[in-house]
Order: sequence, then C-alpha cells, then structure tokens
Amino acid sequence: MENHIHPAVFKISRQLRIERLNQKPKLIWFTGLSGSGKSTLANAVEVQLFEAGYSTYLLDGDNIRTGLNKDLGFSKEDRVENIRRIAEVAKLMMDAGLIVVSAFISPFRVERQLIAELVGAENFLEVYVDCPLEVCEERDVKGLYKKARAGVIKNFTGIDSPYEAPISPAVHIHSDKEDLKISVKKVIGVISAAIGH
Ligand code: PPS
Repeated sequence: MENHIHPAVFKISRQLRIERLNQKPKLIWFTGLSGSGKSTLANAVEVQLFEAGYSTYLLDGDNIRTGLNKDLGFSKEDRVENIRRIAEVAKLMMDAGLIVVSAFISPFRVERQLIAELVGAENFLEVYVDCPLEVCEERDVKGLYKKARAGVIKNFTGIDSPYEAPISPAVHIHSDKEDLKISVKKVIGVISAAIGH
C-alpha cells in the first residue's frame, strides 16, 4: 500500500556525524529479569565508556516508561511496542554517532532479533544479565515480586509472563555469582573489540 511518505536526504549524513565523534556507534543491549541487576551494570558500563571519552547515552525504564512510553503497560502487545519504540530511538541515537547502552527486560527473543536487524547485527551487542528467578525474588528491591505473587500485579515477568533467555548473547553475565567490577570488565572486554578501543 502506498503511504505517501518520502524520506528526505539530509546534507549532514550519518557518516559525517560519525567522523565528527570519531567512534563506532553501537547498541549495547542488556536483557534480564526484573531485579537481575541490568540497570546497575548498564550504568557502570556507561560510566566507564564515558570516562574513557566516548559519547554515550543510557536508555532505561526510568527515562522511557515515565516519558516516551508512559502510555504503555505490561501486556505482551505493550511490551512489544515498548521495545519497538526504544529500538527506533536507539537507531536515531546511533545515526547521531552515539554508543547507546540500554537496560530493559525485553523478554521476547524475536523482538531482540528485530532490534538487531533494525540497527544491523554487527552493531548490536546483547548482554544477558542472568540471575535465577529465586535470587531476583529474594532481593525484591522494589517489592514487586511480592505484589506479583499476591496477584496485585498481573503479567509479571518470571511469574505469570514469560522471559525467553538469549541463546548466544555477546556477553553472558551471572550477576548472582560475579562481582559488579568483574561483570563490567567482561562487558568492556567484548565491547572494546567492537568499538575499536
Ligand atoms: S519490558 O518487558 O522490556 O517491556 O519491561 P521494561 O520496560 O524493561 O520495564 C521493566 C520495569 O518495570 C517494572 N514493572 C514490571 N516489570 C515486569 N513485569 C511487570 N508486570 C512490571 N510492572 C512493573 C519493574 O520495575 C521493571 O524494572 P526492572 O529494572 O527490570 O526491575
């Protein structure tokens, strides 16, 4: 169907923006259960990159679900739309030359594959923050697991909504066993090769 949309070609290209920043745009995608430690790790990785001189941006629940995606809940459809919009935002940021770090549960394997296709598989680095459900539930930092078990929150990931673990992530972190510093080192080690550090 013809949609009458004709994208404009701008004078300042992605390539020119990349040359200005002198870095390779990448999307470092942290996925894992609620309470697995993805925000903490993503944050620490961004700090390390930023302090090393890279231009970065961190996308996570707080700055997305209270703003751009505040109209979305946690049904399957809303989660898919949540991740679709985030992927499009990440792509724009990569067009601007940035290294984007993101931390979302992003529970569906097929959605994460779509993100990789959207930004280019060579630019997509999936980091699986693996932590057993029992440990996340035991931590229950926000008290959400308790509410989910009590039926106060519906469609809670790991309880009554699925989480599909990555099959071959670029980095596999065991956040219940590893020290944060070690996890950051592991992620940076893999990213370094990709960003030409
Ligand atoms: S998703 O699945 O990718 O769309 O989720 P995301 O945008 O990352 O948001 C996850 C945070 O929302 C809070 N929360 C819930 N998580 C899972 N299931 C349900 N039903 C739910 N309701 C609220 C929760 O604090 C998640 O934050 P994190 O940082 O993952 O603990």
